[in-house]
Order: sequence, then structure tokens, then C-alpha cells
Amino acid sequence: MASLNVKINNLELKNPVMTASGTFGYGLEFADFVPLDGIGGIIVKGTTLNPREGNDYPRMAETHQGMLNCVGLQNKGVDYFCSNIYPQIKDIDTNMIVNVSGSSPEDYAECAARIDILENIPAIELNISCPNVRDGGMAFGVTCEGAASVVRAVRKRYNKTLIVKLSPNVTDIAEIARAVEAEGADSVSLINTLMGMAIDIERRRTMLSINTGGLSGPCVKPVALRMVWQVAKAVNIPVIGLGGISCAEDAIEFLMAGATAIEIGTANFIDPAVTIKVRDGINDWLDLHGCNSVNDIIGALEA
Ligand SMILES: Cc1cc2nc3c(=O)[nH]c(=O)nc-3n(C[C@H](O)[C@H](O)[C@H](O)COP(=O)(O)O)c2cc1C
Repeated sequence: MASLNVKINNLELKNPVMTASGTFGYGLEFADFVPLDGIGGIIVKGTTLNPREGNDYPRMAETHQGMLNCVGLQNKGVDYFCSNIYPQIKDIDTNMIVNVSGSSPEDYAECAARIDILENIPAIELNISCPNVRDGGMAFGVTCEGAASVVRAVRKRYNKTLIVKLSPNVTDIAEIARAVEAEGADSVSLINTLMGMAIDIERRRTMLSINTGGLSGPCVKPVALRMVWQVAKAVNIPVIGLGGISCAEDAIEFLMAGATAIEIGTANFIDPAVTIKVRDGINDWLDLHGCNSVNDIIGALEA
């Protein structure tokens, strides 16, 4: 058996397969289907400083080879997470990582600081695709200064591994990655969802309550892969790749493009045990190709 261990800053992952935020609940919801301790890391639902109701329904629509969602970060807020969810997940034997969102740099930083003190949460992932309320709602993650401002504020108050999740809705994702690296991000993950839309032609209405939403699933994979490859060449910190991964071969493509680890999102809705199947498939592929470690194929693309 090949070694599947990888490292993201100080974070040791027993294998490179993690779950993507918003698609795997707090992990507990999937415990009947998959051994949670067999996954390299579980990135839990988006958490904000204050509770959020999320958007009106409908919030999801199926598309060819994918789906659109506009859930809108529904969650009960960071204090509820700390007092009610954390005690239930803290002993799961994997890296439990919290995805953090906010509408100002101070919001993000305060939320991060409250999670910093939780002993068994070794890392956070910042979702910078949220609208900057002060600057008229444009997402932080679409400008270098917006992205940098969030990381700068959080880095002052968060001491553990800081992963910054990048938005693909930009012209040059590599420059955003460099901007967050310069502010002290320990890793970048990409991609978040791509902005999209679907119309019910009989009703002449959009399929989602707020008209547009985030596209995910197999249809986004080529875009995600291209961006991971570009970012991996642009930064010196580890890159976590995601977007449309649903089998071991997909994951291996991301690893070869330069990702140190991967996340699986939408595919969990189709097969709740997909993470473990991808982990085992990576191992089989490595064995078949005579590789002793997954590290042998990270960035191994010849391009
Ligand atoms: C229903 C749903 C909810 C999501 N919620 C979050 C979230 O709270 N925070 C976040 O950073 N990304 C969120 N995402 C984005 C995913 O984590 C992931 O970046 C995206 O879906 C691409 O990966 P995939 O194609 O494997 O699903 C959500 C995606 C879906 C489908």
C-alpha cells in the first residue's frame, strides 16, 4: 500500500481527500454511510458571526452534470457552533475544519478568533466569496485588495492553519492567490462555485429565488482544474483543489496539476460514500503505477 499522507502547513492529513463545505453538513449526518475517520479532513458548513436565515426557497436546481444553489450561508452562528456542534464533533478522528464567512473583515476576524480557542479544530477555511456589505456587496474574493483585507484582519487573530478559499468568478485567480499568500495565508483552496442561472421556460421564471446561484458538480471540473494548475504555479503555499471531483481519476488529475489535497462537494449528494471510494481508488492507482507515496504524483504533470 502506498502512503497517502500529505501535509498542509502543520496539518497532517492521513490521506488527501476532504469534504467541501456545505455539502457534508457537520460530518455527523454522513456517519451512517461512511467511516468519518477514514477521510483526510472534514470541512464543515459555512459559519458566520451571527445566525443567518439563508435565502428564500427554491434554493437548488439541477443542471446538466451539475447543480445550482443559493442556500445563502444558513447557519446558527459561531456561538451556537462552539456550544452545541463542537462538543459533538470534537472527537471525530480526522481534521475537523470550519469554513468561515462574513460581511466585513472584522466579522471574519471575530468569528475566526472564537474558533481559534477550540482545541480540536486545527484549521479554518475562509470563504471570501461573500458580499462586502460596506463596499456595496461586491464579493471580497474578486479583488486583490478585498481578499487581502480579510486575510490581514483574520491573520492578526487566528494562529492555526489558515486556508483561504478562492472564488473562480474573477479574471486572474493567480493574482488573488498571490495577494492572500502575501498576507499570511497558509494554503489556498479552489474553486468555490461559478455564478450561473437556469430558467423554467413554462413559468418564464428563474429556477432560484434570487435568480442566480453557484454552479457546482462535474460540469465545473475543467474550469477548476485549469485554475488549480495556474494557482499552483503562482504560489509557494500548498493548494487544495476542488470542483466537480467524483472519482479517483478526477482527484488524481487535480493532484497532478499541483494540488496537495482535494475536496469533494456535490458528489456526496449522489454517493455519500464517495470520499472513501476516491481515497481507495487513489491508493489502487498508486499501487498499480508503482508509486510509494501520493507525494510522487503531486505536481507531476508534464506541461
Ligand atoms: C449546497 C451547497 C452549499 C455550499 N455551501 C458552501 C459554504 O457554506 N461555504 C463555502 O465555502 N462553499 C460552499 N459551497 C461550495 C462547495 O464547497 C464547493 O466549493 C463547490 O460546490 C465546488 O465543488 P463541487 O463541484 O465538488 O461541489 C457549497 C456548495 C453547495 C453545492
